[in-house]
Amino acid sequence: MPKIVVLPGDGIGPEIVASAIEVLKVVAPDLEYDEHKFGGASIDAYGEPFTAATQEAVKNADAVLLGSIGGAQDSHWNTLPRHLRPESGLLALRKALGVYANLRPIKVYEGMEHLSPLKPELARGVDVLVVRELLGGVYFDPERWINEMEGFNAMRYKKHEVERIARVAFKAAQGRRNKVTSVDKANVLEVSEFWRREVVRVRESEYSDVALNHEYVDSVAMLLVTNPSRYDVIVTENLFGDILSDLGAVLPGSLGLMPSASLGDGAGLYEPIHGSAPDIAGQGIANPTATILSAALMLRYSLNRPEAADRIDAAILRALNENPTKDLGGSAGTQEFTQTVLQLLKET
Ligand code: NAI
Ligand code: MG
Repeated sequence: MPKIVVLPGDGIGPEIVASAIEVLKVVAPDLEYDEHKFGGASIDAYGEPFTAATQEAVKNADAVLLGSIGGAQDSHWNTLPRHLRPESGLLALRKALGVYANLRPIKVYEGMEHLSPLKPELARGVDVLVVRELLGGVYFDPERWINEMEGFNAMRYKKHEVERIARVAFKAAQGRRNKVTSVDKANVLEVSEFWRREVVRVRESEYSDVALNHEYVDSVAMLLVTNPSRYDVIVTENLFGDILSDLGAVLPGSLGLMPSASLGDGAGLYEPIHGSAPDIAGQGIANPTATILSAALMLRYSLNRPEAADRIDAAILRALNENPTKDLGGSAGTQEFTQTVLQLLKET
């Protein structure tokens, strides 16, 4: 039985994670759950955001499902030393799992085009997967300094780092529309030229059935909002991916719709991209969609159950249209929306 470590976290986290588990229980009844406090909730109970017991649990998990962490700006957690705050738990969790690939689907759902800042004709059918390298590049390179005269960081990629992220992208494309766009700045950067060369090599030797093209990051920044339908899977390095995935996150029109997966060689980490929404926590009105879709990504990428994931995706699409939550202009609360999803799942 696959073992899922569940970290509800803070704010709306416990509410939306409970919804996702109700949904999982219908489409994958055999999963086993091991729930732990994490982030602020763990600080209040044990004095630290990511305890040794939780670290041990995630090491033995098949996948980790996370809600969200953190408090309001004036929260008592924000008065703690930095390494004891909720956010440091999240960074430590990502590091413990060695998740080097961050996947963010950017999808404008049918019937939800009016929420998107794009014109309806551009918003229609948008379905892009951004695969961002998460553990390398300029954010992590050990060669870095700052002094009176200069600041320095380096963008460096090793062969194995490009290889493994390229594989994630090609494999994901095979389950989609079979097309990868590798994004770089190879006209000016050697590291990008190297990145491009390695991505080409991985495709030729392992994924020759997947179409590959290369585009410059500045051009993609424009095309992602003027012609997003041209993309299937976008793969890119850490810094470019950080910027492009945040840019892409505005396209669906609500944070409550955006799931994510972070993959490494072991257990994957699945979480909504939004935070703990302290302004609406405890009111029963949070949109659980992003978390339920994150659970679907877990079924797809960590548990190899694409049919179960497809069932969730289809039920969510219908529920969004039939009984939308408040952030989408509807009136359903968290529980009511979840019940609609469960009902639709039982009908399929
Ligand atoms: P946020 O994403 O929590 O909220 C931004 C706005 O979107 C709020 O008005 C909120 O009510 C709304 N919103 C977010 N998710 C929603 C949902 N599922 N349904 C309906 N409305 C939703 O960002 P904010 O307010 O900047 O941060 C709050 C806390 O969350 C902070 O402590 C921050 O550090 C933390 N945070 C945690 C993240 C994580 O766990 N990965 C990511 C981003 C922020
Ligand atoms: Mg960012």
